[in-house]
Amino acid sequence: MEIKKIAVLGAGLMGNGIAHVCAQAGYEVKMRDIDQKFVDKGIATIKKNLERGLQKGRITQKEIDEILGRIEGILDLKEAVKDADLVIEAVPEIVSLKIDVWKEVDAAAPDHAILASNTSSISITQMAAATKRPGKFIGMHFFNPVPVMNLVEIIKGQATDEETAKIIVDVSKKLGKETVLVNEAPGFAVNRILVPTLLEAVFAIQEGVATVEDMDTSVRLGLNWPMGPLTLLDFVGLDTALHISDYFVDEFKDSKYRAPTLLRKMVRAGWLGRKSGMGFYDYSGDKPKPNRF
Ligand SMILES: NC(=O)c1ccc[n+]([C@@H]2O[C@H](COP(=O)([O-])OP(=O)(O)OC[C@H]3O[C@@H](n4cnc5c(N)ncnc54)[C@H](O)[C@@H]3O)[C@@H](O)[C@H]2O)c1
Repeated sequence: MEIKKIAVLGAGLMGNGIAHVCAQAGYEVKMRDIDQKFVDKGIATIKKNLERGLQKGRITQKEIDEILGRIEGILDLKEAVKDADLVIEAVPEIVSLKIDVWKEVDAAAPDHAILASNTSSISITQMAAATKRPGKFIGMHFFNPVPVMNLVEIIKGQATDEETAKIIVDVSKKLGKETVLVNEAPGFAVNRILVPTLLEAVFAIQEGVATVEDMDTSVRLGLNWPMGPLTLLDFVGLDTALHISDYFVDEFKDSKYRAPTLLRKMVRAGWLGRKSGMGFYDYSGDKPKPNRF
């Protein structure tokens, strides 16, 4: 089967990045969100990111116009998926929400369509079981920012068939990405390692071990990370990190994955990181200013 049309569900941080790389690779894309303002914001972000490439001479205005011409922003879910060959879901990391979305998609998408979730941690098998096509259900985990990051972690659920995995490896390569194929477990490979590490950095801040900037500098220079863990958490979204942590505790039945109270308090205050303008850093000025805790 050849993939030509892709529906992307969610126009947020990940959804607009996924729509961007799919359209850039020549696919026809419908990008769906639940409110026009989110769709508009997603399209504006794609445009801004493409224009950055124009300034650096990596892309022409004609190519930008063609890429944007292949992306249709849309609100109606049935319309979005009705002729899709592949549906990639990037809605918030909440199990019940994703399952509801997949039930609706399963009923409205063509029988041949492959369903792929960009979940950071949630069971592919559990979501697949909510559909009538578990063999065509797979995890397709992109990294943020999608146009820049080279990996797609592909996750097979219990029932995912070989043909589905092969098609998704091919699509990911066409998007210019490296792939790894992993078996299902909470957090898969990358987040199994990353999330507990990020949580530990927040525990250390909570205990007063270091300031935000010193913790970031320690890890950046001491471990040669491209950015510190608190800067990275602000990029990821503190709500997303908290959802993953709560999910790990539920799934592993192990409190070692618990979220620090500071993280939960920040999310309750609406401090979600870059996307809300406030997190471990304050983004209201010219450059991020570390907060004190
Ligand atoms: N943030 C990251 O670094 C990162 C990395 C890899 C994977 N992910 C995963 O990607 C998914 C999305 O995360 P995000 O960071 O883009 O979140 P986000 O909050 O930036 O975007 C989610 C978008 O989904 C929309 N939405 C909600 N319900 C919807 C529905 N029923 N249909 C369509 N859209 C709907 C929201 O309005 C929002 O615009 C999550 O599963 C997350 O775990 C995130």
